[in-house]
Amino acid sequence: MWWPRINLVLLAVGAFSSNLDQADASNPTIQYESLPTCNLTTKQLGEADPSAIIEPCILYDVFPSNNITEAQHNHSSVITVVGVFPSGCLENRDGAFIAVEKLNRDNHGKGAKIGYNGDHYLQFRLVVAISGNYQQLPPEVYARTHGDLLESMVVSLKPQYILGSCSYVAKYDKKIAGKRQTIVLSQVGPDIFYTQDSNDYVFGVHIRSETYGLPAFQALKFSVEDRTKQKIRILHRDRSEFFNSTCQEIYKHALQDGFTDSVAISYNPEGDHDDNGVQNQQDVAFLRALADDVCPPNQTNSDDGPQVAIWVCVQTDLETNTILDRWKENGCQPSSLWLTTAAWAYTDRFPENMPHIQTGGQWHKAMIYSDEYFASGQAMLKYLAARFNYPPHYGAVGAYHAIYLMYKNTASFVKTKDFPNVNDIYQTQYEEVRRHLLGLSVRHSLYGLSSFDENQRNIGRGSAGMQWGIPFGSSTNTTEMELLLVSPVDQAEVAVLVPAPTALDCPAGHYVNQSVIANERSILTDKCSPCPVDSYRRVGMSSYECQPCKDGSGTDAFMGAAICHQVEDNLIPRGLLAFGYCIMLLSLCCSLGFAVWTVIHRHDAVVKIGQIEFLLLICLGSMISSSSIIPLSFQAGTNDNTSAASAACVTIPWLFSTGWITQYASLFAKSYRMFQMVQNSTAMRRTSVTAWDVAYVVLGCLVINWAVLTAWTVVDPLAWVRYDLGTTVDEEAGFLTTESVGGCSSDNVGAWIGSLLSFHLTIMIASNILLWQLRGVRDRYQESKYITLASLFACEFLLLGVPILIAVGDSSKARHIALVCIIGLTDLGVLLFVFVPKIRYQQKGLPDGMTVGTSIMKSSANHGVSVRRGSSHMYGESTTRRPVGLTEEMGLELDPALQEEGEQNHNYDELDLR
Ligand SMILES: *[C@@H]1O[C@H](CO)[C@@H](O)[C@H](O)[C@H]1NC(C)=O
Ligand SMILES: *[C@@H]1O[C@H](CO)[C@@H](O)[C@H](O)[C@H]1NC(C)=O
Ligand SMILES: *[C@@H]1O[C@H](CO)[C@@H](O)[C@H](O)[C@H]1NC(C)=O
Ligand SMILES: *[C@@H]1O[C@H](CO)[C@@H](O)[C@H](O)[C@H]1NC(C)=O
Ligand SMILES: *[C@@H]1O[C@H](CO)[C@@H](O)[C@H](O)[C@H]1NC(C)=O
Ligand SMILES: *[C@@H]1O[C@H](CO)[C@@H](O)[C@H](O)[C@H]1NC(C)=O
Ligand SMILES: *[C@@H]1O[C@H](CO)[C@@H](O)[C@H](O)[C@H]1NC(C)=O
Repeated sequence: MWWPRINLVLLAVGAFSSNLDQADASNPTIQYESLPTCNLTTKQLGEADPSAIIEPCILYDVFPSNNITEAQHNHSSVITVVGVFPSGCLENRDGAFIAVEKLNRDNHGKGAKIGYNGDHYLQFRLVVAISGNYQQLPPEVYARTHGDLLESMVVSLKPQYILGSCSYVAKYDKKIAGKRQTIVLSQVGPDIFYTQDSNDYVFGVHIRSETYGLPAFQALKFSVEDRTKQKIRILHRDRSEFFNSTCQEIYKHALQDGFTDSVAISYNPEGDHDDNGVQNQQDVAFLRALADDVCPPNQTNSDDGPQVAIWVCVQTDLETNTILDRWKENGCQPSSLWLTTAAWAYTDRFPENMPHIQTGGQWHKAMIYSDEYFASGQAMLKYLAARFNYPPHYGAVGAYHAIYLMYKNTASFVKTKDFPNVNDIYQTQYEEVRRHLLGLSVRHSLYGLSSFDENQRNIGRGSAGMQWGIPFGSSTNTTEMELLLVSPVDQAEVAVLVPAPTALDCPAGHYVNQSVIANERSILTDKCSPCPVDSYRRVGMSSYECQPCKDGSGTDAFMGAAICHQVEDNLIPRGLLAFGYCIMLLSLCCSLGFAVWTVIHRHDAVVKIGQIEFLLLICLGSMISSSSIIPLSFQAGTNDNTSAASAACVTIPWLFSTGWITQYASLFAKSYRMFQMVQNSTAMRRTSVTAWDVAYVVLGCLVINWAVLTAWTVVDPLAWVRYDLGTTVDEEAGFLTTESVGGCSSDNVGAWIGSLLSFHLTIMIASNILLWQLRGVRDRYQESKYITLASLFACEFLLLGVPILIAVGDSSKARHIALVCIIGLTDLGVLLFVFVPKIRYQQKGLPDGMTVGTSIMKSSANHGVSVRRGSSHMYGESTTRRPVGLTEEMGLELDPALQEEGEQNHNYDELDLR
C-alpha cells in the first residue's frame, strides 16, 4: 500500500531557512557537462541508504526514439525539459519519464500531433540530473549543488521548461527559473510557495494543499442544521506552512460560513511551553491538555447541539496517538474528524485507529481522470510500476502532469498555426508562451481539470476528499477499512459519512456501551451495543444504559430489545386453584363421611330403606365426579410442556361423566324403582325391583357413556391448546403483552360434548319425568322428595352451567370457577339432599305408627295425588277424585313388606318404595 506516503514530501516546505538558497552562482561548484551518467537505477537511487554518498550524475537523457534531426524533417519539433532531483523522490522524476516516453512514441514514434492541420509533431527531450543524497549532505551543500547543477543545465541545454523537483527542495528551482527566465512546473502544494519569494516563471502543477480539508468541511456544512450550534475545533502545528495553512483555511471558511462557535488552537511543535526540556511535540501532558481543549471531557449526549467537528494538522505518530488516546479516555464522540496523518504512513502502523476519519490530498487512485495515453492515473502508476519495478505513489501522477501541461501549453499555443516551428516560437516568443500557460485550461488529463490562478497555481479542481471506510459492496468489517475517495462528487467511490456513527444516537434497542468507548481503538465508530437481555430502549438515543424490563416482562433472552415482552398466559391463579381443591375436598369429605355413615348405620331402617348400594353409589359417583377438579387444575404456560396438561384434559370428561352418570343413573334407577313400586302397588302386584336391576341401569348408562368417551379419546382426544388473544402495547411501561389462553380442545369437541350432554340430559329428563309422576307420593322418609330435589338441583346446575360456560368465554379464571362450582356444588348438593334428611330421620327415628302404606295414603289424601290404578301412566293432578280402596289394598300389600324390611334384615332390597 503506497497511499499513506502522500504528501510526506510536502511537510518540509517552509521549514528551512531561506538563506540556504543563496548559492553563489558566480562560482559554480558543478558543471553539467562534466557529469557522468548514473551507474544506479532510479529505484536503486530512491532506495539508497540515508547515509550513502551519492555523487551528482545524469540519470536520464531521454531523446525522441527515432531522434530525427530537424534538418531531416522539419515537421517535427523537440523541446527540452531539465530537472534536478535528490536521490530520493523517484516518483517526481519517473512520472515525467513515462510522460515523455509516451508522448515521443505517439504516432508511430513521431510524437504528439500539433498545429492547425495536425501534421506536425512535438517530441521531448528530458534530462534529469541527480544532485546527491539530500539526507546525507549538509543542507547548505545540497542547496548549492542543486542550484548550481540546475543553472548549469539550463545554461548549456537551453531547455524550454524546468521540471520542478520534489517539494522539500523545490525552492532551489525557483531562483534559477527566475534568473534564467525558464518556466518551472513545481510539484508543491501550499500557496505560500508561490506567493513568497516567487517569480513569474514558477507555476504550480499541484492543486492547493489549503483545500485538503475543505471537502470534509463541505460535507459538514450539508449535515448541519444550525451552524451557530455546531462546534468546530481546529488544532494544528504553526511551524510548518503546510500544517498552518491547511488548518487555518478551514478556520477561515468556518467563520465565513457562519460557524460562529469555531476555535483554532495552534501550537509550536518545537517550542517548550513549560520549559521542562521536552519539546511540545513530544510533551504528552501538553498534547493531552490540547486534546481536552478541543473536545472537553464528558460532553457526550449533550443537548446543546451536535457533537464537535474537528480538524487536526499534526505530523508525528506521538502527536496523533496522544490526542486520539485522550479523546478515547474523555469520551469524545466527534461528529467529524479530519486528520493530516490519516493519509500517511501513520495509517500503516495504526490501521485500527482509522475508521471514518477523513483526510485530504492531491489525488486518489480512484480518480478516473484520463488522457489519450492512460485511462486513469492509476493505470499510469501501474505502467510505471511495471517499467521501474517499484510501487509508485501519487507523486508520479503530478510529475506526469507537469510534462503533460508543457505539451498542452505548446500544442495550445501553436494550435492556429499551419507550420508551427516550435523551437522558433520558444526562442522568439517565450514571454507569450509563458502567459499562454497562465490562461491555459486543460479539460482532460490524468490530474483532472487544470488551470491556473493569479498565483500561477493549479486550481482546476478541488482536492481529493478521503475517508476511511468500507469499500462499496464489501462486507462490514472495520479491519478492512480503506482510504476511500469521497470527493469530488463525480469521482467519489462512496458517499462521505457525516456525522460519524459515534455522534449519532443509538438506534432503538441500543445504548452507548462505555466499555466499547474505552476499548475500541477507533474513536468514530459506532459505540452502541444492543441492550442486554431483559432490558430495552424504546427510542433511539445516546444513553449509557437501557431500561430494565418491568416486573414479569422480559426480552425472551434476546439482546437489543426496543420493547420488553410479556406473555400473559392467563393461567388460573393459585388462589383459585386452591378454591377448587377446597370445593373438591369438601365434596370428597362429604362423600366419604356419608359413605362411612351409611356403612355404620347399614342396619338402620333408614339406611335400609334408602338402600345401602344406592347410597354408596351416590357417594362413589360424587367422589369420582369431584376428583375431576384435579385434572381440571392442570395447566401449561406458553413455554411449558403440554403433555401433562393434555393427559389431564383427556381424563376430565372420563371422571366427570363417569361420576355424574354413577350418581344420576342411581337417582334414575331409584326413581325408576320407586315408580315401579308405586305402579306395582297400585296394580296390586308384587314384583320386586332388585338392587341388581338398579345396578344394570347404572351399568348400562355407564357403558353407553364409556362407549362415547372411548370413541372420543381414540378418534379425537382432547389436548391442551393455547389460543392467541392478540397483543397489546403499553408504551408507558414499555412492554408488549402477548395474551393467550389455554384450554382443552379437540377437533370436534362440540360434537363430543354435545353427544355426552344429550345422553346426560336424556337420563335427567327421564328421571325427572319419573320423579314428577311420583311427586305426590309421600314415603316415610320423604325420599322421593329429596331425590327429586337432588335431581332438580343437579339438573339446574347442568342446565345453568352450559350457558354460564359459554358466557365466560376466554376468561380462564371465570371458566375455572364455573366448572369447579358446577362439579363441586352438583356433587355436594346431591349428597346433601340425599343424606341430610336420612341422617335427620336416622337420629329422630321413624315417625311412629306410620306405615309406608299409610304415608302414601296420607300423601295422596293430603295432596290430592291420585295414583290411578290400572293406568299405564299416571297423572296426579286431580284433587277431586279420591282413590277409595287404595288405602287398604296398599296397606295390606305393603305392611308385611315393611315389617319384613324393618325387622328382618334380608330381603329388604326386594321390598321397596319408600
Ligand atoms: C558508481 O560510481 C561511483 C563513482 O561515481 C563508484 O564509486 C561506484 O562504485 C559505482 N557503483 C557501481 C555499482 O558501479
Ligand atoms: C540524437 O541526436 C542528438 C543530436 O541531435 C545526439 O546528440 C544524440 O546522440 C542522438 N541520440 C541517439 C540515440 O541517436
Ligand atoms: C522545411 O519547411 C520549409 C517550409 O517552412 C520548406 O520550404 C523546406 O523545404 C522544409 N525542409 C525540409 C528539409 O523538408
Ligand atoms: C498560519 O497561518 C495564518 C493564516 O494563514 C497566518 O496568519 C499565520 O501567520 C501563520 N502562522 C505561522 C506561524 O506561519
Ligand atoms: C467523566 O465521566 C466519567 C464517568 O462517566 C467520570 O469518571 C469522570 O470523572 C468524568 N470526568 C469529568 C472531567 O467530569
Ligand atoms: C474481518 O477481517 C479480519 C481480518 O481481515 C478477519 O480475520 C475477520 O474474520 C473478518 N471478519 C468478518 C466478520 O468478516
Ligand atoms: C460492551 O462492550 C464490550 C466490549 O468492549 C462487550 O464485551 C460487551 O458485551 C458490551 N456489552 C453489551 C451489553 O453488548
